Parts: sequence; structure tokens; C-alpha cells
Amino acid sequence: MGSGGREHTFAWKLSRSPRCEKLFIAPGNAGTGECGENVALDPLDFPAVEKFVLGHHVNMVVVGPEEPLVRGIWDYFQSKDTLKDIPFVGPSQAGAMLEGSKAWSKKFMQRHKIPTAAYQEFTADTLESGLEYLRQHKLPIVLKADGLAAGKGVVICESYEDAEKEFREMLGGKFGSSGHRIVVEEFLSGIEFSVFILTDGKTYRILPEAKDYKRIGEGDTGLNTGGMGAVSPVAFVDETMWQMVEERVIKPTVNGLRKEKLPYKGFIFIGLIKVNNEPYVIEYNCRMGDPETEVVFPRLKNDLVTLLDNCARGTLGRVKIRSDKRSAATVVLVSGGYPDSYEKGKEISGLDKVKGSILFHAGTSEKGGKTLTAGGRVIAITSYGKDIQAAVKKSKRNAKVIDFEGKNYRRDIGKDLGA
Ligand code: AMP
Ligand code: GLY
Repeated sequence: MGSGGREHTFAWKLSRSPRCEKLFIAPGNAGTGECGENVALDPLDFPAVEKFVLGHHVNMVVVGPEEPLVRGIWDYFQSKDTLKDIPFVGPSQAGAMLEGSKAWSKKFMQRHKIPTAAYQEFTADTLESGLEYLRQHKLPIVLKADGLAAGKGVVICESYEDAEKEFREMLGGKFGSSGHRIVVEEFLSGIEFSVFILTDGKTYRILPEAKDYKRIGEGDTGLNTGGMGAVSPVAFVDETMWQMVEERVIKPTVNGLRKEKLPYKGFIFIGLIKVNNEPYVIEYNCRMGDPETEVVFPRLKNDLVTLLDNCARGTLGRVKIRSDKRSAATVVLVSGGYPDSYEKGKEISGLDKVKGSILFHAGTSEKGGKTLTAGGRVIAITSYGKDIQAAVKKSKRNAKVIDFEGKNYRRDIGKDLGA
């Protein structure tokens, strides 16, 4: 379920499995249509999903984006006798709180002694003490809307005036009810990376790590986006760092979910920051990352159907993760104007001239044999290479080959890691 570059990558990887007889993507995009059958189905319309799954004898369900999970699609499946035994990859609504509520996830980290930035939470009822807290806080101040806010709910304020203004606007409904509770957090300075695990609620498996590039502008400047590119592996995540991440973050997270009896069979995306050589959690997501999936899955050698089936059935302990030694990089082509307003429906040319990269469609549609832009992020161009530099080079070459009116992309993906 889903329609972005992440879901195209899932579809690509699932369709390569000899165990995948038939694949439906709901609703998918022009790219996923080449891996299976797109179906006009809204993942948030649970009764429609139910009808489709039963009508087509679907025997595995994989959820890409967070929203259906946070709204309880797993719980819906569990509540129906005809659905509850279908292997389902995605956490319960209670488990998805890791992403669904920043305040909840901070408390979860505190309960399980998982390293994260110091914080306080406030609502309209505690507005005055919140303002007081802001005034004595060190700059910059990180404000986070508690609920889902399409990646826009984190604001880093460089002055007290900005912080107070933002605080009032969030409580006033800038992000709808998502901002009715605010997490005020200490700013951590360091380099970020992302770790992905798959858990069946008992054990876990670690997937290749990645680093994404969130800002629109080169040199990490300008507005935040969903992600302009990603690379894997991340060289500075060495053996010592991995050990700290596993002992201090991954194990207490999985054990915490189990101890608190929060059903979780699915992916956990842990956003980390390295501060003074130690890992701190910036955020959890209850799903894979986008565009991180576009570099993580190409480096995953396992059969994805087998991997996910074992996850859903609670037998993940049987599986060993095998990853490709090669590096992978993805460069995302976006619509002009993104992440502010942009136009859709531009014809995309040159797709058939791409050589040596894999194209994952993010926001595209098909009309009369033409491929059109249909979103802010349009296409992720993934390449392998002996190192990040070689992989990025191939993706950038193909970024020139594909064209559409207003095309924009970052030319510095992986540059900080030697590319
Ligand atoms: P999120 O939406 O939680 O992924 O946050 C977006 C971005 O805000 C992160 O990728 C970080 O770059 C930044 N960020 C979030 N929390 C902090 C923090 N405590 N200190 C510094 N940067 C942060
Ligand atoms: N690339 C960041 C995310 O998927 O949330």
C-alpha cells in the first residue's frame, strides 16, 4: 500500500521474488504498474481494503506509509475473523505511536533509558509555563508538533522571538490537532544517519544503514523536503558505533515494545545523530524511509517475500540478512518550486535512455502512453557503485538524461561522504 518511491522499491523487490505470484499496488504510480497491477484503492479506506483483500484472495499485506498504520489498519485487520490470519507487515496502532506521537515516543525512550535529547511537553493548558520554559532555554530551540505533520512538524528556532511565535502558532492550529501538544527539545549538534530494523515483536534484524539529504538546497540549505537523495552504506558508522546503536538503542526499543505488549511486526526506522561519538535518537518512524528504501532494498540480497513472511509469522529468528557489498546512491528529481507549491502534469522525457541506474517513480502518472509528473518528488535514480562516489556519478549522469519542465535536483548527494 502506498504510492511513492518507497512503494515502487517495495514493488520492485517483491516482484523479483519467485514466491510472488501476483502483486497489487494500492494505489501505486506509473512505475509500480510495471511490477504488478495498480489498483485504485485508498489505504485509509479500511473497509475498501478489506473488500479488495478478500475478493482477490490476497495472502500478504505490506503497508508502506505511516498514516494507515497510525490510524490503526493493523487493528482493523485483527478485529475481523476473515482478515486476522493474513500475514500483515506493519505495527499495531499502539506500536505506531513511536511515530504517531512525539511526546509518547520521548516518554517511551525515557522509560527504556534510550539516549535522546532532553525535553518538556506543553499544551494550551500549560501555555504560560511553556513560554517561561522557552525563555530560559538555550538557543537554538527545537519545537516539535506532537502528531503527524507530513514531515513539517519540526521547527528549529534561532531566536526567542521565533520560538515564542512558532510555539503560539503551533498551539493555535498551524498543524491542525497535531500541534495541540508540543515537544520542546534540546538542540543536538552532530551528523545524522538512519538505521532500519525489521522486528517480529520477539527478535529483530538490522538492514543496511543509510543517510538521507533532507534540505532542498545544496550544502544542506533551504527548506526541509521529504528527502532529495540518499546513500548506503554510511562510512562513519563503524563497528564501535554499530555496537553502541545496537546495545543502547535497538535492543531496548524492541525489548520495550515487547515488555509493554505493543504488537509490532514491521519496520522501525530510527533517525540517529552522532554527538561526541555517541548515538542519540532524533526520531522513530513506524515504516521504512523514503528515499532511504531506494538505497537500502537494492543492497538487500534476501528474498523480500521470504523475509516479510517470516516477520509477519513471527519466525524472523530463522532469517539471516545478506547485504550487497556495493554502495548505492539515489538522486531524486523534483518538480520546480517543491517543497513549496509546484505544478503537476509535466511530460517526462528520456526515461528509456537511462543506462546503468534503476528508476523508482515517486510522483508520476500515466496518461495516453505518456509519463507525467504527479508530485513534488518525481523520480529517484538509484545506482550501484564500488563506492558512494561511483554510485552518485552514475545517478547524476542519468539525472541529466531525464527531463521535464522545472526539473530540479541536488548535485551534492554524498559529497560529505567523499562523493
Ligand atoms: P524529524 O521530522 O523528527 O525527522 O526532524 C526533522 C529534522 O529536524 C531531523 O532530521 C533533524 O535534522 C532535525 N532535528 C530534530 N530534532 C533535533 C534535535 N533535537 N536537535 C537537532 N536537530 C534536530
Ligand atoms: N526520508 C525521511 C523519511 O522517510 O521520513
